[in-house]
Amino acid sequence: MKSVMLMCCESCAPKLAEGIAKSLESQGKRVAIFVPHADCAGKKPADCEALKLIAAGRKDALLAKLAERVEAAGKDADIVIVQPMVADGMMRMAYDINIALAHDIDATVIPAVCADGKTDAEVADAADLTVKLFAQEGLKISVIASPCSDAAAALIRAKGLEVVNPKDARLAADKVVSSSTRVTPNKFLKSLYNMARANKRTIVLPEGNVDRIIKAAAELRAQDVVNIVLLGDEAEIRAKAAEIGVSLDASIKIVNPKTDSNLADYANTLFELRKAKGMTEDKALELMKDKTFFGTMMVYKGVADGMVSGATTSTAETIRPALQFVKTKPGIKTVSGVFLMSLADRVYVYGDCAVIPNPTTDQLVDVAVASAATAKAFGIDPRIAMLSYSTGNSGSGPDVDAVREATAKAKEAAPDLLIEGPIQYDAAVSPEVAKTKLPDSPVAGKANVFVFPNLNAGNIGYKAVQRASGAIAIGPLLQGLKKPVNDLSRGATVADIVNTVIVTAIQSQN
Ligand code: ACO
Repeated sequence: MKSVMLMCCESCAPKLAEGIAKSLESQGKRVAIFVPHADCAGKKPADCEALKLIAAGRKDALLAKLAERVEAAGKDADIVIVQPMVADGMMRMAYDINIALAHDIDATVIPAVCADGKTDAEVADAADLTVKLFAQEGLKISVIASPCSDAAAALIRAKGLEVVNPKDARLAADKVVSSSTRVTPNKFLKSLYNMARANKRTIVLPEGNVDRIIKAAAELRAQDVVNIVLLGDEAEIRAKAAEIGVSLDASIKIVNPKTDSNLADYANTLFELRKAKGMTEDKALELMKDKTFFGTMMVYKGVADGMVSGATTSTAETIRPALQFVKTKPGIKTVSGVFLMSLADRVYVYGDCAVIPNPTTDQLVDVAVASAATAKAFGIDPRIAMLSYSTGNSGSGPDVDAVREATAKAKEAAPDLLIEGPIQYDAAVSPEVAKTKLPDSPVAGKANVFVFPNLNAGNIGYKAVQRASGAIAIGPLLQGLKKPVNDLSRGATVADIVNTVIVTAIQSQN
């Protein structure tokens, strides 16, 4: 199924959608028309699901729902024409949703230009402006659709634009739709769900009595992507679930670390693993009653395939048990944390954003190599930028020298990987800047894995991009551990928790 989106704030959009559908159907295409605001028709704003989600600050959930409904509408179609969302008195909001949805479903946009009440010159100007506006939004634009006069069409063409009147032109399907390899957040999340579902794993969530965790667990089971173990007192968790209106599927296992029959065995294992570091039997038993230690031990023992925690605990509290006894994979000394940054049309890997405050050059090498492996595990062919405030030999100083040294060591350690450094962020992502600064680099201008020089830069960097661009930041994914244990930010939303559990399950498949 390919989707087309018709964008117009004017009243002729539905008619144009019908015209385009007829034209495509006459060529043997199966066409569906989707109207995003259909469920709000005739309802008060307070009863409209879309507006309720917007009011609750869940634009992400609204977009995910709309994308799902576009897919459902197009189940038996070759092409879905998505009409623009209309919301009385809220043009700006509707415009934002339309743009975001077009990106999300990777639609080809047909700028629709109405002719009623406009002179031919005004129609041509409107066409020009609309195309420029959509181009600035980074949308894929197809031909303009307009029920305009031949004279207006000639004026539009004189501006170098292509226009068709769906009523009397046979609209070539390949002109209005194009296939694309862009990885939108919607496509990326869908691919993650499919990967997780293909080989279902068991993930333990130690913070079983936290509202957001309970909601995420219910959502994950409803989607049937992973098996879930919640830690805590069963009666307390069930009462909390009832209180927040969540029904907990019978397949969700609830284990109480304080009374579980494995407690003594787990404590003994901890004692054996850590006695050389001063662990006593009493201390091990005490620690094992802690939910994070218990959950981490379930992963160590293979009772669970991965753990996600940290909605109420600091990063240090969450990951210290894993650092102490899950330990690193053979050949890797450093655990680091990356974010999968799902931008409008691509996915980047940012590391280390979570663990090592001031990495040595050897640790930066580990971060680069491990980040490349993580990228590959999620279907990204890595091109690694070792970030700095200098590109090539443009700047100097001990911080730049450290990145230069780390780059040389990383190239030596992993000669098959494409690595560039030191390199500035703009030279890493922009082909134009790359042409000037590093014209011969196979990475500059097309990097997709970014190694930050220290934790300050990495943590600030991912949050700045997330907040400024609206990217979905999935992570931090800890890399380098023998088995996956992942940390949540204490501000994690239900969607963040769901996504982190899914990527943890995928990590455990590898
Ligand atoms: N890789 C591998 N092993 C490690 C690492 C690492 N990066 N760091 C510590 N270890 C091991 C040590 O070797 C040690 O093992 P041992 O006890 O068997 O000898 C064990 O872990 C404990 O080491 P400590 O030096 O005592 O480390 P500590 O527990 O104090 O701290 C930690 C480790 C928690 C990772 C610390 O470096 C830290 O707090 N980092 C910053 C975390 C943070 O605040 N991140 C930002 C927020 S995250 C976000 O915004 C999403």
